[in-house]
This record gives sequence, C-alpha cells and structure tokens, in this order.
Amino acid sequence: MRSPKDFFAPLAVGAPDPPRQIPVLPSRMIHFFDPGNEKMATKVPGIAPQVDVLLGNLEDAIRADRKEAARNGLVRIAKSVDFGRTQLWTRVNSLDSPWVLDDLITLVTEIGDRLDVIMVPKVEGAQDIHYVDRLLAQLEARAGLTRPLLVHAILETASGVANVEEIAGASPRMQGISLGPADLAASRRMKTTRVGGGHPGYLVRTDPVGEELDEGRTTYQQDLWHYTVARMVDACAMHGILPYYGPFGDIRDTVACEDQFRNAFLLGCVGAWSLHPAQIEIAKKVFSPAPRDVAWARKVIGAMGDGTGAVMIEGKMQDDASVKQCRVVAELADALAARDPELAEAYDAATEEALAE
Ligand code: GLV
Ligand code: MG
Repeated sequence: MRSPKDFFAPLAVGAPDPPRQIPVLPSRMIHFFDPGNEKMATKVPGIAPQVDVLLGNLEDAIRADRKEAARNGLVRIAKSVDFGRTQLWTRVNSLDSPWVLDDLITLVTEIGDRLDVIMVPKVEGAQDIHYVDRLLAQLEARAGLTRPLLVHAILETASGVANVEEIAGASPRMQGISLGPADLAASRRMKTTRVGGGHPGYLVRTDPVGEELDEGRTTYQQDLWHYTVARMVDACAMHGILPYYGPFGDIRDTVACEDQFRNAFLLGCVGAWSLHPAQIEIAKKVFSPAPRDVAWARKVIGAMGDGTGAVMIEGKMQDDASVKQCRVVAELADALAARDPELAEAYDAATEEALAE
C-alpha cells in the first residue's frame, strides 16, 4: 500500500509533481479524428476552434497497418497546428496491444508538452492506471517535461465497471472517465450490436387492461446505459474527476443522439464524444446549460444571500440544497461563457429577463 504522504510525489526522479486538482476546462465534446488520414489532417486547423477537445485516435477504427501512420500523423499535427485554447488529447492503443508502448514513448517524448490528456482504453482496474502512471513519470522525466500529463480511462469492460471507484482514485493524474458502450456491451455479453444509444427491446410495459394480454398496453423504452453512467458519475464525483458519455454510433440519428447526450448531462456528465462534425453542435447544445436554467440558478443564488435559511421563489421552496444545485449550473455557465461570447450574451439576457419578472 502506498502511504498517502507519497501520493503526490513524482513516480520518477525529475518528473513533474502530480496535479492536486483537475482543471475544469470546457470539454463538452471530445472530437475524434484519425491523424493518419491526410484529408482529415488538413481539416484539423478549421475544426480546432469549433470544439473544446480534439482527440487524435490511435486505437479502434484505425487499421493495424495504419497504426504507425496515425501515431506519426499526430506528432506532425501537434507540432504544426496552433490549437489556441482547444485541448489536444489522444487515445492510445489498449495496454494489451503491441502498439501502446511505442504510442506512449513516441507521444510523450515528441509532443508531451502539447498534449493535455491521454485516454487509455479498456481499463480493467487500478493496476492498469498504476502501470501508465509510472511509465508516464519515467517518460516525462526523460523528456524534461514540466507539466504532468493527465489520464482519462474508458469504462468499457465488465471488470472496469466492477472496479470503477478504484480506477477513478488510482492516481492524481486521473482527469476523467468515459463510457465506452460498444466494448462494454461485448465484454458483458449484452445482446446489442449498436454503438451506444438505446434498444427497442429493452422496455417495460403497463399492466394488462383486460383479458387480452397483447392489447392496450403502453410500452416505454428504457435506457440500457443508465446504471453504468450513474455509477461512473458517482465514482468520478467521489474522486473530483469528470465523467463523460462516450460514442453514439448512428451518425444520422441526430435526434436520439441528442436524447442520449442529454440523459448523460442531466445525470452529471460534462461532455460526450463527437465522431462526426454533425455531433459537435449537438454536444455543444446539450452540455451548455440552457439560458433559462442559468437565469433561474442565478436568481436563486441572488435571493438566497449567504445560502442559509429558506425562501420561496415563484412558489418553489429554495434552501441550502437547492442553492448548491444552482451553483453547479451557474459555475458551469460562467466557465463556458468565459470562452464563448455568444453564450455569455444569451445567459446575461435571460438573467436580466428573469430578474425583471
Ligand atoms: C468506445 O471505445 C466503445 O467501445 O464504445
Ligand atoms: Mg472501445
């Protein structure tokens, strides 16, 4: 067992100190691209200002014979493109693959000062994070980096879900966790072949209305991912890191994608992956609180003064617990508004209107 006193000590001589707090930067959409695809690479400078996070993907969806091209492409792009305030992340290959060691060595050595977060797929338990933690420290020390890289785990194995709390707390580098519904479905032997989203067969039905069992009974589709997302959110909140919904594979179904993202947002997630430019706007819309909710939150905070006691606003009781909920919304809105003048304006206009009512 590691002593708590050592938890924030670097894991290699000369490596930067591990972070004490995870920076809460806007990360409503983690936009995936294939850095080995020339056509996509040329679009990166245009896409960067439109997203909160750009992620160079080296893992699944990159063919085995393109792994090296993707890795080298990411190095080239990171060195040549100005990302402004957009974060640059990567998803390396899984820890049981023959590529991950070269991914980590090359990326940390060549572009460790440009990368913000390394996403590690198929994490099974704290032991996987410990391995990456030590290796990153060694590589950071060797490369002379002064800022520690952060680690993001994908929750996509049954044992990862069983161990999600220990994964979230396995290292001070842990930045967040994303749901990986496709691999998770396979690992659990679920009987869906979709990449995220619901399934019409997963439903509940109202009671029979008469003798006929198959007439007049409404069915309601349920969310296959509710349990996992909720558990992931609790594990992340417990350890001060950020939860994300992952991929929604049916690119054409923008409506269901928005629903799935919104469920995750309401449950506590801060963002989702975008696999196609069409999903960027959906994530932006869903993971930015609505102006009327921000206005309400600011109104409650203003009315509650020091936060103690209780007040009635428009017939609704407010107290310590509701003002805390409002602070979550207002703080997120402020962080997003600081980066997005259009959003700032919409929030201020809605607040003015609400205060005038
Ligand atoms: C993502 O990697 C997934 O498996 O859903
Ligand atoms: Mg996966």
